[in-house]
Amino acid sequence: MIRHPAFAVDPWSIRETELDLDVLEQTESVFALANGHIGLRGNLDEGEPQGLPGTYLGGFYEQRPMPYAEAGYGFPEAGQAVVNVTDGKVIRLLVDDQPFDVRFGELQAHERVLDFRAGVLRRRVRWCSPAGKQVRVTSVRLVSLVQRAVAAVVYEVEAVDAPVRVVVQSELVANEPLAPAEADPRAAANLTAPLCSERFSHDGLRAALVHSTQQSRLRVAAAMDHLIDGPHDIQTASESSRDLARVTIAAQLEPGERLRVVKLLAYGWSSQRSVAALDAHVAAALAEARHSGWDGLLAGQRAYLDEFWGRADVELEGDAELQQAVRFALFHTLQAGARSERRAIPSKGLTGPGYDGHTFWDTETFVLPVLTYTAPQAARDALRWRHTTLDLARKRAKLLGFEGAAFPWRTIDGQECSGYWPAGTAAFHIAADIADAVGRYQAASDDEAFEREFGIELLVETARLWRSLGHYDFRGRFRIDGVTGPDEYSAVADNNVYTNLMAQRNLRLAADTASHHTDRAAELGVDPEEVAAWREAAEAMLIPYDEELGVHPQAEGFTEHQLWDFAATAPEQYPLMLHFPYVDLYRKQVVKQADLVLAMHLRGDAFSAEAKARNFAYYEALTVRDSSLSACTQAVIAAEVGQLELAYDYFAEASLMDLDDLEHNTRDGLHIASLAGVWIAAVAGFGGMRDYDGALSFAPHLPQRLTRLSFRMCFRGRRLRVDVTHGEVRYSLLQGPPLQITHDGEMIELAVERPVSRPTPQVTAGERPTQPAGRSPDPRGTPADWGRPTDGCRD
Ligand code: BGC
Repeated sequence: MIRHPAFAVDPWSIRETELDLDVLEQTESVFALANGHIGLRGNLDEGEPQGLPGTYLGGFYEQRPMPYAEAGYGFPEAGQAVVNVTDGKVIRLLVDDQPFDVRFGELQAHERVLDFRAGVLRRRVRWCSPAGKQVRVTSVRLVSLVQRAVAAVVYEVEAVDAPVRVVVQSELVANEPLAPAEADPRAAANLTAPLCSERFSHDGLRAALVHSTQQSRLRVAAAMDHLIDGPHDIQTASESSRDLARVTIAAQLEPGERLRVVKLLAYGWSSQRSVAALDAHVAAALAEARHSGWDGLLAGQRAYLDEFWGRADVELEGDAELQQAVRFALFHTLQAGARSERRAIPSKGLTGPGYDGHTFWDTETFVLPVLTYTAPQAARDALRWRHTTLDLARKRAKLLGFEGAAFPWRTIDGQECSGYWPAGTAAFHIAADIADAVGRYQAASDDEAFEREFGIELLVETARLWRSLGHYDFRGRFRIDGVTGPDEYSAVADNNVYTNLMAQRNLRLAADTASHHTDRAAELGVDPEEVAAWREAAEAMLIPYDEELGVHPQAEGFTEHQLWDFAATAPEQYPLMLHFPYVDLYRKQVVKQADLVLAMHLRGDAFSAEAKARNFAYYEALTVRDSSLSACTQAVIAAEVGQLELAYDYFAEASLMDLDDLEHNTRDGLHIASLAGVWIAAVAGFGGMRDYDGALSFAPHLPQRLTRLSFRMCFRGRRLRVDVTHGEVRYSLLQGPPLQITHDGEMIELAVERPVSRPTPQVTAGERPTQPAGRSPDPRGTPADWGRPTDGCRD
């Protein structure tokens, strides 16, 4: 748990006013900056103390062996792990011969601010050296959202009350030592010195290092340049060696005098380009950064983010802490995907090495819905990345004996990296999740070029997988047996409702798209019979139902399993997967994360309102939320079935997942899909937004605590704003041609400057469902819980 007496509540930033070294690792994740291409953890400028140093590049990994005690056919032979590449953040400072290190001397003032509008991390420090010399140090760091290869830091040191000699050492450091690996499977593998030096150079205030990895054979270049301002007699020197480049700047400062160093950083990597080409690439990126200058980079960042917030902001009235958390969540979701440009978006974004930097279904199911409606270009790029991996997915399907494409459960470059097949290979639902993201993007963007070139192929190959995975039983029902659904406390089950419903949509989408683009479909070898077969399989899809209990079993037979003994499970035995064998979890009714409940969100069109309420109550009693991907979905369905205060509790949990370190692993990186889920909980939960079959509908309801919710989104080239209060919902089209939407079942025509208002729909809820003993979300949704401070400092 981050005990953060110093995180002030502010609508547009996270501000820390005390430095707590015990939670340094967590705050390094919280204060991370990224643009989807480069990611810098929020490490202190001077490199030490540090929790976990981290500089990551989208798609840059090292391959490592995956030894098995008992190997089996089709097990992946090699894994991939994200590499902590050359660290360009490091700026050391010497104050009258003593290194600036917050563990020594006296830290008289400290502040770090992550600014969501400016897109920078600011740090202000006043430090008194052990010898009694006082300095003010400020730094502002950014990872450019406009110039994707560029990051920059402006670093200033000022003498306070007496003259001081200062030396600033600005570095590029490769192969930083990391702490030993942890036993937790969610943490990262530890690569020792993964980078081999290929070139190092320095020239004046510039220096560059080029390295490559041994197994994955990727090459990375990092370069830095400096702009210096300060007293007249500044002396500079530079040096470089295999794993270190350094520019040293020495000056004498009178009280009130400052030394200002702008450090420009550039990164480039490739699997193909030569040392010379990459060296030239980073030199060019630096030239571009110099041309923009610090002020230009800052202005570009601001303009990019003004534009983003204009399309995407979510405003809450009534809970200042969650207002802050929602913008924090959106900011990091954008940072994860903005410029990833045909590289995978990892489950931790570029904020930490957790899960080895792999991407999972998280991206398509949680991150892309948000990007589709707030930064559609980024969603398109992410899907184009999936498309580039199609050949690998086709090979994998063939190896496994199926047709079409079997996408990896976890990967960096498209190869399957899951060594645990019951939760990896068998989680075929990822194919339908990708198809769902394609369908949503296509419907929300009207991007015909994408649909013809990439979307159709993803849909066709995933439909082919379903057709070959499933079969007709003697009753003529299309069954998909032996698969793992989203809930990883069940595995290799028959007819998982989520999987079957999503596969059904996948088959229909493929059929519709192929019928729309017959020429492209023909190029992909699709004929009318295949289209008809997809439609037939979708029509005959088996969706199990337990007549006696009146609920949908998560998978066939699930509701007959023994109930998990929650009363006998101690709080410290969660997450269960770290304390009980999978063999026991799999045979009992206990749910790690929303599965059937997620089906009721994404395929809500397949359930009646009564079924939703009954199912929700049933699964609430079984769901332990051992994954961060659960609370946001539970919030959506809780809101739909009228459990608005419970929905608010879940919304708060999702919102505070990383700010409060609720999963105790924020140190390894932020939970990007859960952060994206905060937007989903607000917009699909309280806004009641659904997008079935490409039509946009809303049915907003507010929990008691919120007096207003406003959100913006893009849809087919339009910008839309929805304002919800307890009494009224107002829909405004901010930009673009007229648009039809549905409000609580009523069709509404929207046009610019002609907002439409309707009374907020009322829902009647049944009894509040209960959760497993000790697993209820922290209450926040009822007036008695509103005593927490909403300004100043948190408790
Ligand atoms: C969840 C998976 C998820 C993975 C990566 C696991 O804990 O159960 O659904 O894909 O984390 O975020």
